[in-house]
Amino acid sequence: MLCLDIFGISDPNGPMIYKGTYHLFYQYNPTGAVPGNIVWAHSTSKDLINWTPHPPALSRDTPHDVNGCWSGSATLLPSGEPILVYTGVNTENQQVQNLAIPKNPSDPNLIDWIKPQYNPVIAPTQQNMINATSFRDPTTAWLGRDGLWRLIVGNKIGQNGRMLMFMSRDFVHWFQSKNPLYSRRDTGMWECPDLYPVSTGGEGGAETSAVGRGVKHVLKASMNDGFFDTYAIGSYDDGKDVFVPERGSLRLDSRMRYDHGKFYASKTFFDGSVKRRVLWGWINESTDAATDISKGWSGLQAIPRKIWLHKSGKQLVQWPVKEIEKLREGRVIFPTKELKGGSVLEISGVTASQADVEISFEIPTLEKAEEMDTSLTDPQAICSYGAGKGGVGPFGLLVLASKDLQEYTAVYFRVFRAKTRYVVIMCSDQSRSSLSLDYDKPTYGAFVDVDPVKEKLSLRTLIDHSIVECFGGDGKACITARVYPSVAIDGGAHLFAFNNGTYDIKISKLAAWSMKAAQIN
Ligand code: FRU
Repeated sequence: MLCLDIFGISDPNGPMIYKGTYHLFYQYNPTGAVPGNIVWAHSTSKDLINWTPHPPALSRDTPHDVNGCWSGSATLLPSGEPILVYTGVNTENQQVQNLAIPKNPSDPNLIDWIKPQYNPVIAPTQQNMINATSFRDPTTAWLGRDGLWRLIVGNKIGQNGRMLMFMSRDFVHWFQSKNPLYSRRDTGMWECPDLYPVSTGGEGGAETSAVGRGVKHVLKASMNDGFFDTYAIGSYDDGKDVFVPERGSLRLDSRMRYDHGKFYASKTFFDGSVKRRVLWGWINESTDAATDISKGWSGLQAIPRKIWLHKSGKQLVQWPVKEIEKLREGRVIFPTKELKGGSVLEISGVTASQADVEISFEIPTLEKAEEMDTSLTDPQAICSYGAGKGGVGPFGLLVLASKDLQEYTAVYFRVFRAKTRYVVIMCSDQSRSSLSLDYDKPTYGAFVDVDPVKEKLSLRTLIDHSIVECFGGDGKACITARVYPSVAIDGGAHLFAFNNGTYDIKISKLAAWSMKAAQIN
């Protein structure tokens, strides 16, 4: 078959669990690389890992979405039935908010959806003066203590980002709240907002409408001028309907990111079956459109992650959902081992092109850590030094590496000494990831809020051919990368631990698994 189409996927939409079945919809271009044909593709799963594709749930077939069924969310009503709210791009190219309801709610797969005649339910008008080309991506709605449903829609005025709030008693008639839930100058457009409660007492998730004692709220925005997802932790005042951040501001605080690599337009849902909040995010390509067209597809969804508030209350923590461990096979465990400065250790016995690796490091001699250059506040800039010789670190893994180390992606830690403490930085360096292909090979970096005097430095890495998802400090810092090796593919891929620092360190834990392929679309 000659296939010239590029099947592009992007934002995750409307994730939920319904009658024991997980649903994921996602932005999908079924016909080509050109924009303007976005529909909601749909897949279901029993375990968040193996997926069954279905026909698109929402296609461009009404005047209110003829130019695109853009991003949106699912809400479970008190009856248990779901309802979708999504952005339609209408005949006038205005962004409006539409509903879709299941045709047959007794079908756990929810194959068919009805778009009610009364769509759109929220639209830019002369009265509300909303900018019709920047008004999109409604959140999951939550039910206020006053019996009103609320949701927010991303918007901007000039360059000022706004989270506009709308309220409704019946989910059909919506009115705009007096003030935005949150706004900030000079942010640009906030795409794909998300607002949800996180429990202050552990890893368990909180249902989306939870307020009051025992929860804080997270507000997240996708920054379309920088292509990253940033969040703030704070409180949602359900009397005044405003969000007051305590940490982060949805702009410049580079610590407050879900992921410091490629991870965008993400969305969470509350998984009531095991009381956790699960995060989905889109990982795009690092190649150009011509390469994507010849490959025949572009974009993918990251492994879903459990997300919760760290006990410090200062940041979120993420970890791949435990179901991913079903794909593990052939565990390889290495005994505690010293990793001398300047050495490389092959981790053999696993399929290095598709693996799950958990490694922890202990650092015996911290006093000799290099001094932190205080002018460098951006970890990405520090990581751009590369994985070459250092003091305490770089140490970590060389993944998707060729035998002769001509090709590799380095994921590693470096530890620096600052005035009163040590600073740990995690890097994902793609500069040597491919000998042949010309593509974007950035180096990403993140601070990891751990104290290396008291704590081990842990790194979990999920490797899947062209995707490297890293979770440092037990999930405190996440970096996702796309790489396209030319030699280190399939059987030609190797995995190494390395220490390019001057000082010896100890590998206190190392377990690695080959990963079976999941059933995907
Ligand atoms: C984010 C985004 C959304 C929009 C959708 C269109 O990637 O631009 O704001 O709804 O993609 O596909």
